Amino acid sequence: MIGPQHRVIAIDGPAGAGKSTIAKALSVRLGMKYLDTGAMYRAVTYEAMLRDLNLDDLENIAQLAVDCDLHVGLDRVIINGHDATDAIRQADVTANVSKVASNSGVRKEMRIRQQEWATMHGGGVIEGRDISTVVFPEAILKVFLTASPQIRAQRRVEQQGGNVNEIAAAIEQRDLFDSTRSDSPLAESNDSIVVDTSDRTIEEVVNELETLFLSRLSHGNS
Ligand code: DC
Repeated sequence: MIGPQHRVIAIDGPAGAGKSTIAKALSVRLGMKYLDTGAMYRAVTYEAMLRDLNLDDLENIAQLAVDCDLHVGLDRVIINGHDATDAIRQADVTANVSKVASNSGVRKEMRIRQQEWATMHGGGVIEGRDISTVVFPEAILKVFLTASPQIRAQRRVEQQGGNVNEIAAAIEQRDLFDSTRSDSPLAESNDSIVVDTSDRTIEEVVNELETLFLSRLSHGNS
């Protein structure tokens, strides 16, 4: 059946693998909408911290996720009427987001919102950790982006500054947490295309994914 999932390109992978850069460029190339699901988990984390809530209170944080008015657009992230675009990238949010993202109540709500988003837009390029495995298992193209730990840390330092060894340790800790949580951990799906971006340009990767997508579309292969 051709549903909104048919037009979803799912891009998963660990921090610093190049997901945002490649997913955004691919969406522009293909004229498709783009959704950063990590920004959704970050926004809920930020809102909980702003309200000084206990992040270990699973029910309360899940309720916050259900009740919040959340808009994740290409340029701006708005939660409950305030602009959280910059705040969600701050180190304190980054340090706490894995805990909030391991809350099953929060994940259930975000999953529903992500599926509704795809239905509303007739698909799109969606990046995250569980997009291929759980949220859109029928996506026409599933991609798992990776890069060596050193390269991933260097990219983060170029974006945000900091010490490469400290950033590498923080990334490693967050990836471990995200890959070992019980609810929808970061993992490759068995039909994902695995792309190592360590030694490849953005252009090369985007070209490869564009070709794959167009070929699947023309073969009606979902
Ligand atoms: O991609 P990012 O670093 O902005 O993601 C922030 C956190 O959210 C990350 O620690 C993993 C989590 N996340 C998730 O669990 N599932 C997703 N679909 C996207 C992100």
